[in-house]
Amino acid sequence: MPATLMDGKALAERLRGEVTREIAALGHVGLATVLVGDDPASDVYIRLKQRAATEAGIDARDIRLDASTSEDEVLALVHDLNDDAEIDGILVQLPLPSQIDETRVTYAVAPHKDVDGFHPVNAGNLYLGTPLHVPATPAGCMALLAEYGVDPKGKNAVVIGRSEIVGRPAAMLLLQAHATVTICHSRTADLAAEVRRADIVVAAVGVPGIVTADMVKPGAAILDVGLTRTEEGIRGDVDPAVADVAGLLTPMPGGTGPMTIALLLESAVKAARYRRGLLAYPTL
Ligand code: GUN
Repeated sequence: MPATLMDGKALAERLRGEVTREIAALGHVGLATVLVGDDPASDVYIRLKQRAATEAGIDARDIRLDASTSEDEVLALVHDLNDDAEIDGILVQLPLPSQIDETRVTYAVAPHKDVDGFHPVNAGNLYLGTPLHVPATPAGCMALLAEYGVDPKGKNAVVIGRSEIVGRPAAMLLLQAHATVTICHSRTADLAAEVRRADIVVAAVGVPGIVTADMVKPGAAILDVGLTRTEEGIRGDVDPAVADVAGLLTPMPGGTGPMTIALLLESAVKAARYRRGLLAYPTL
């Protein structure tokens, strides 16, 4: 029997409806997105995020800076946004042009406004099992698992990729949900053997079709986060034939992508609650 598709688009729509109502109740939620340069993929992501935020009733500020902008200029902008009473959440789209140190910019965002969850305070709290702001893509994966009745407790979960945006936080969230977690990466000796033991797979390396049907345990839940634009169209990390073996599979597109946007909006609401003292954000 072919895998059930995990409909990220439908779940994201439902979550966005809930977020819209929460924003209306809060009155005002301000989100600033910052895009430096003209990377076409980043431009698409920012457009999607801006549109979704505006549709949900967020006061969304779309800040675009020239590709030649200096690190000091970006840091000055981030500091201004940190101090801006109209802004609850800040998102600096990655990657940044090579003259800018991403780590310095990530550290500069006030942790309670860091809707991406990339600041070390937020990453550290996730590591410690006390999550505050959590990266949207792995949070979306967890929401999809919950929606489709997959409890990670006691399951073998394999995360392919160790990026700070997806792989590492996905592993931490699965661990917090009591899965037995393995993180695979480019130096993993036998990827197929690791994946074969997995009840849950999160594939996030950006290598089209790296997860093939012969690697997958029958009935496993497979979340495809990788996205590569090829001449034949958008390809995920998971080969489409995996649908013949898996129990649950995210479609590509329409799986994890829409969830990332929905969870970002949830994060913006959370940031607004932190700023209003409706939710406690621990300070150092
Ligand atoms: N680049 C790729 N994914 C993301 C994301 O979730 N947030 C930001 N800020 N940049 C990204």
